[in-house]
Amino acid sequence: MADTPEVPPATGPRGFARRVFDSFWRVGWPRDERAALRALLQSLVLHVHAPKVRPSALTFRATWGLGFVSLILLGALTATGVYLMFYYSPHPSAAYRSMKDIDFVLPFGLLTRNVHRWAAHAMVFLVTLHMVRVFLSGGYKAPREANWVVGVLAWVSTLALSFTGYLLPWDQLAFWAVTVGANMVAAVPGVGPDLRVLLLGDAAVGEPALLRFYVLHCVVLPLVILGLVSFHVFRVRKDGGLVTTEHAPALPDGTRPRMVPAWPHLLYREVVLTLVTVVVLLAVSLWVDAPLEPEADPARTPNPAKAPWYFLGVQELAHYSAFWGGVFVPAALVLGLCALPYFDRGTAGLGRYFPRERWLACTLFSATMVFLAVVTLIGTLFRGPGWAFGWYWP
Ligand code: HEM
Repeated sequence: MADTPEVPPATGPRGFARRVFDSFWRVGWPRDERAALRALLQSLVLHVHAPKVRPSALTFRATWGLGFVSLILLGALTATGVYLMFYYSPHPSAAYRSMKDIDFVLPFGLLTRNVHRWAAHAMVFLVTLHMVRVFLSGGYKAPREANWVVGVLAWVSTLALSFTGYLLPWDQLAFWAVTVGANMVAAVPGVGPDLRVLLLGDAAVGEPALLRFYVLHCVVLPLVILGLVSFHVFRVRKDGGLVTTEHAPALPDGTRPRMVPAWPHLLYREVVLTLVTVVVLLAVSLWVDAPLEPEADPARTPNPAKAPWYFLGVQELAHYSAFWGGVFVPAALVLGLCALPYFDRGTAGLGRYFPRERWLACTLFSATMVFLAVVTLIGTLFRGPGWAFGWYWP
């Protein structure tokens, strides 16, 4: 069989359009399995997937779409971020005014900023849920240990990407949230104050900090995340696809599950998820505007000054002890997550959520996550002036 499809005669505008389209996209709807597999091998986009996938990996509950939607959000952040970069000025004397211009002068500026802001929050939330999903199904166990560690690094980088973007609007919210975050860094014993100077380029948030955060946010961290995520997705394939019940070592009947071509089975699900994500993101962004408070004023400290929401749990713990809450717990969490697959090596119950065979690991992990969610909620909703306990909407 020839490798390229027959080129239809270009008669009229429709025939010409068809010819242009076919020159880019040679893969039609597959008529049989062989055509589907050939299409996968020929296409760069489709080649990212393994040619065949297990039907159990296609069900929604296998992934809840979390990893893929995180990927789409990363794409949305990149696209909107590039548009914003054309108009944003990373200098304290101009940053806030450029935000106002983006909101009120630039065509689709406010919508672009809204999409960027809500996609960033959603990504932090969904990547965390994705990690929980992978843990509960045992997806971090051999041979996927390295990919889990890469995932943890991607999670930390996602938090850093969001945090560095927080400063750029140069409003009161940005300035003081980053000041609080930098103070947490300063609580590291011994090297803390030096680390803060390394991060901010000075003892406090100012011009060097804005420039550093801008470069980290627009160049360094996107490249780091792009590298990590590309490797991550590649490794999902190389590690044999998703862990599903068919990976459980003690398959009762020993049968090999039937595989189906990734095209169209996986790809059309991804197209649907992409469309749903884009529609939801646009709807939220048309409905709710990203906040922009008055311009940053180093002389006027809000009370309370709060970190971004995903660090409010750490801020809440740091309120009790700057070292234990603000440094030890986050460091132990990240190191513990990285070490986890090398110590928890049992293979029973893989591919099922919260299986009886893994009840202890799943209970401990869920308890940690619930604890973090509760302290985050306390920091967000129940802390007011002087960090006093009460009921406060942010
Ligand atoms: C930037 C963030 C991330 C992106 C874009 C991403 C993307 C993906 C995608 C597309 C998949 C395959 C489908 C799915 O499971 O939903 C996947 C699987 C996986 N991810 Fe992530 N991921 C990210 C972060 C993480 C994190 C934070 C962890 C864990 C700490 C992680 C660990 C894994 C593992 C171990 C698999 C294989 C799961 C299995 O076999 O069941 N990923 N990821």
